[in-house]
Amino acid sequence: MRLRRLVSRAFTNRSPTLAERFYEHPRPDIDKWEHYITKYSELFFGLPPKVTLLEIGVYRGGSLRLWSEYFSSDSVIVGVDKNPHCKTYEKANIKVAIGDQGDQRFLSDLSAQFGGFDIVIDDGSHLVSDQIASFQTLIRSTRCAYVIEDTHAAYWQAPPSKADLSDFLIQQHDTLHEWFVAAGTSESFDDAKWINQHQTEISDLRRRLVSIELLDSMMIFRLGTNPPPKRLRTKIEGAAKT
Ligand SMILES: C[S@@+](CC[C@H](N)C(=O)[O-])C[C@H]1O[C@@H](n2cnc3c(N)ncnc32)[C@H](O)[C@@H]1O
Repeated sequence: MRLRRLVSRAFTNRSPTLAERFYEHPRPDIDKWEHYITKYSELFFGLPPKVTLLEIGVYRGGSLRLWSEYFSSDSVIVGVDKNPHCKTYEKANIKVAIGDQGDQRFLSDLSAQFGGFDIVIDDGSHLVSDQIASFQTLIRSTRCAYVIEDTHAAYWQAPPSKADLSDFLIQQHDTLHEWFVAAGTSESFDDAKWINQHQTEISDLRRRLVSIELLDSMMIFRLGTNPPPKRLRTKIEGAAKT
């Protein structure tokens, strides 16, 4: 299998995918579920090679090294961990900041220091309260993707916090649908004047949140530009409205 991949790459002259890099080198220093690698392979494939990436939760530094090998060497990979020992995993383009992910001031200063992040991965405490606090702090300065890992941990916490996670998810779903909430009907979407009048009711996050993807233990928020929804409807002259 590995030989086939290497031969295929040699003939197509393409760079290895994230999954290929992961499986070609043993990584005892990483703590991820297998399907995350497949997902990150897909997610990163569409991104520019030079990124500023933040991962909350450094552990033994293995994932930071994987990201730094995958993205171009002028990328900046930043790790956050509350364990001071993680500072030892700093390398040329890997920076580690020691602090608590629940400390919003710390995260917002860090984000300002690096000019925001293209990608944020939350693999820290896995406490829902921390996941929400970090998201609320960092989402405004995240440009491409925000990933929360290990959301299954919400089922294990005492008291169980899956309701908080569900509420959080519904809030983001609401954000995605702000135009429809403002409209109350689909008819408004044919009216450019109405759209202009209601621009101020639309949050900055709605303008940038493109999708929310939910998979086993992972939430992925893709960011970019998300214009008001445009209805494609063929109007038939004289036909009764339905
Ligand atoms: C699952 S490990 C990270 C694994 C690593 N991202 C990887 O993929 O190999 C979780 C890390 O989060 C750190 N951590 C736990 N609670 C934290 C908090 N409140 N703030 C910052 N880091 C925290 C732990 O010290 C630990 O190193």
